[in-house]
Amino acid sequence: MKNIILIAAPGAGKGTLAKSLKEKYGYVHISTGDLLRDAVNKGDELGLKVKDILAQGLLVEDEIVYQILKNRLQEADCQNGIILDGFPRNVNQAVKYEEILSDINIDLGVAILLDIDEKLLIQRITGRRICSKCGEIYNIYNPTITPKVENVCDKCGSALYQRSDDNEEALKSRYATYVEKTQPLIDYYQKKNNLYVVDSSKDADYTLEQVEKILRDLGDQVD
Ligand code: AP5
Ligand code: MG
Repeated sequence: MKNIILIAAPGAGKGTLAKSLKEKYGYVHISTGDLLRDAVNKGDELGLKVKDILAQGLLVEDEIVYQILKNRLQEADCQNGIILDGFPRNVNQAVKYEEILSDINIDLGVAILLDIDEKLLIQRITGRRICSKCGEIYNIYNPTITPKVENVCDKCGSALYQRSDDNEEALKSRYATYVEKTQPLIDYYQKKNNLYVVDSSKDADYTLEQVEKILRDLGDQVD
């Protein structure tokens, strides 16, 4: 399987898509946001350092992210197809990523942009609810992905929670950070002839189908 880098605005559907690809094809899903939130929840030194930065929707220092990413990439499961969700997030990180990969002998793979109109993001972000146990992602504004019982996961029955940065104010800052720091990556991967664009404004199945088509056209065994 080709390694995949997901580039997208906050709330565009990176986590949702990565979860589906992981369940269907066994990809390893690496979300730098999830790794940082885990550290915050543990309350360790790293977590204390990054907590306010996440809540404000700013980017964590590059060096911190390189360290957690490198540690994760060195685990044995990363040899058979990884989906990077939320990294790289600026051009420096993209350049550094290629250095890290060549050190550990992993391919860059393809970059996929989940394209979405900014106007749709507010409901995706403020309506998102996440299962505290299995990580299933819901949205209370979208009847097709609303939990059957309020605040309870359909899959495992555990409680749902909202992220501390899932509010209108933090979204403004997260989106501005995306435009300023992350959007230049579109040009970066386009110049390498390695960027694929999918429409993420419809439902999650449609996003998945478009990605499957790209992977199939590139020679991967997907159904
Ligand atoms: P991160 O966790 O990466 O957050 P983000 O980029 O803001 O993206 P989200 O997780 O909010 O959205 P998503 O695209 O995953 O959407 P989802 O699938 O959940 O980063 C958080 C913070 O960590 C950053 O602000 C920064 O501080 C720090 N950080 C992380 N990486 C870093 C890095 N490399 N360098 C420096 N700092 C870093 O979907 C959203 C909602 O929409 C859900 O309710 C879902 O059900 C719904 N939905 C999803 N897809 C669809 C669809 N196709 N149709 C309809 N609804 C859908
Ligand atoms: Mg996410």
